[in-house]
Amino acid sequence: MADEPIDLKTLDNILEVFKGKKAVIPILQKAQSAYGYLPKEVLKAISEKTGIPLSQLMGVATFYAQFRLTRQGRNLIRVCDGTACHVRGAPKSVEAIEHALNIPAGGTSDDYKYSMEIVYCLGSCGLAPVAVVNDKVYGQIEPQKIVEQLKKLE
Ligand code: FES
Repeated sequence: MADEPIDLKTLDNILEVFKGKKAVIPILQKAQSAYGYLPKEVLKAISEKTGIPLSQLMGVATFYAQFRLTRQGRNLIRVCDGTACHVRGAPKSVEAIEHALNIPAGGTSDDYKYSMEIVYCLGSCGLAPVAVVNDKVYGQIEPQKIVEQLKKLE
């Protein structure tokens, strides 16, 4: 699927709110919530329009885990591979998801339907192995079952 063109008008509206302020983190947060991630074109435009050096924007965007520099899938799958989940078979579910849905761990499917992150403890070890899909918690996941549940997502 081809990337959609980036509409920079949305960014102009965001920057209007921060007029004259070099509020790097709030600007990046607003831009990310508008675009879903921080495309290069958007970072360049922020730099040109605010005078904040691109290197500074990139430094902040890469330092904080909250910022994403690549487009994410519509559905975010976070599979826990912390100790409790690992010993209860989380890697088998990760493998099943990778193969069945063609999503690399830590990556996004070609059709941008899914992104999968591996995390190390979701604070629900009693439900291990655990996955959180679009903020919904799935406990005691099993490879085939979680794949079927993920296939049902839009
Ligand atoms: S180790 Fe997976 S939820 Fe804690």
